[in-house]
Amino acid sequence: MKKITTKNIHLGVKNSDSVFGSVNPPIYLSSTYKFPNSEIGARRFKGEEKGMIYSRFTNPTIQALEERLIALEEAEASIVTSSGMSAITTVFFNFLKPGDEIIAHKVLYGGTTQLLTHILPKFEIKTHFVDFKNKKEIVEKISSKTKIIYFESPTNPMLEVIDIQAIVNLAKENNIMTVFDNTFSPLIQKPFSLGIDIIIHSLTKYIGGHSDLIGGAIIGKKKLIDDIFNKSFIFFGPTLSPFSAFLALRGMTTLEIRLRQISENAKKIINFLESHPIIEKIYYPGYADKSQKEIVKKQMNENIGLGGVISFEVKGGYEKAKKIVDNVKIIYLAVSLGAVESLIEHPASMTHSELNENQLKKAGITPGLIRLSVGLEDSEDLINDLNQAFLKSK
Ligand SMILES: Cc1ncc(COP(=O)(O)O)c(C=O)c1O
Repeated sequence: MKKITTKNIHLGVKNSDSVFGSVNPPIYLSSTYKFPNSEIGARRFKGEEKGMIYSRFTNPTIQALEERLIALEEAEASIVTSSGMSAITTVFFNFLKPGDEIIAHKVLYGGTTQLLTHILPKFEIKTHFVDFKNKKEIVEKISSKTKIIYFESPTNPMLEVIDIQAIVNLAKENNIMTVFDNTFSPLIQKPFSLGIDIIIHSLTKYIGGHSDLIGGAIIGKKKLIDDIFNKSFIFFGPTLSPFSAFLALRGMTTLEIRLRQISENAKKIINFLESHPIIEKIYYPGYADKSQKEIVKKQMNENIGLGGVISFEVKGGYEKAKKIVDNVKIIYLAVSLGAVESLIEHPASMTHSELNENQLKKAGITPGLIRLSVGLEDSEDLINDLNQAFLKSK
């Protein structure tokens, strides 16, 4: 098995059911596993022998998913977790201690911003939020206390593209660990090959792909992932349920074809938005800021596509935006993204509502900004749906 398209379907399943030959991975619900004898039990606890112990640690369905995720990111090791947020929290708590500092891009998923702003300071862990498009801003904050450089690209919801390689180079020069959230672009982007130490995924989004599971993953260097597994994961217990692991495995089988079609639909919707007088500005990777096109080319596989998240600002501010999101009929008014269903939301009052006015302004999240996660419906139906909602908003 060489190609990722094939691996996304077969990895982790082969020989997983030697009794009945099921073509899908069985869902192992057992919480605990029999040891053949006490010596083997002891050896498994010491890590001297492979084998199952207890499902908070690992489980055959979970292992199948971890194997597939390692292949997806061309990395060395993986741990799946109960949510994207639990993956992020586990990484921070594993590697940081009071007095340590993080440097993060100024725009992140709202939950991550909350964690960095409100929870980690309780443990005397400080975060500097700077603009990762400006290397100087990062350099100014680097000190002996800096332990993690953390970012996402494309960013949520402005779809700005950050030069991953440039950030990695800077981190390596200063011996700082890089943690990168690749939730928006699985398969399209390979951060591990660019030198990122740890990749985060919310499996809830494109990887699951059907709005029917919450899950997360930590993927990266074996030494680091083993450290997390032994020190934090087993004892915090943010374990994914085997049923959710099964759903994520099933989601992965169609990941590439979904991403291709979703990206195609997104292009058609952008064409429509471009021609509509209600639109003030459109945000998509390499779109609003044409100078970012080069970075897109360098780090994103445009052959697959650039994903389904489009943000757009409408003329008329919050009142207009509210009417639009309240009047769509096919598209659901719901947060989350990366699903087969198209989802629309208002970042300033929903996903990014915890940002204060100044932070919203700095991030470019205006009252008239709407985020659309394009799904797999017929693009013409989606365009007609947006068009009638625009008309009703008058
Ligand atoms: C980029 C990004 N990272 C992490 C998360 C958190 O993932 P979860 O909801 O699975 O905890 C989200 C959720 O929207 C996200 O968009």
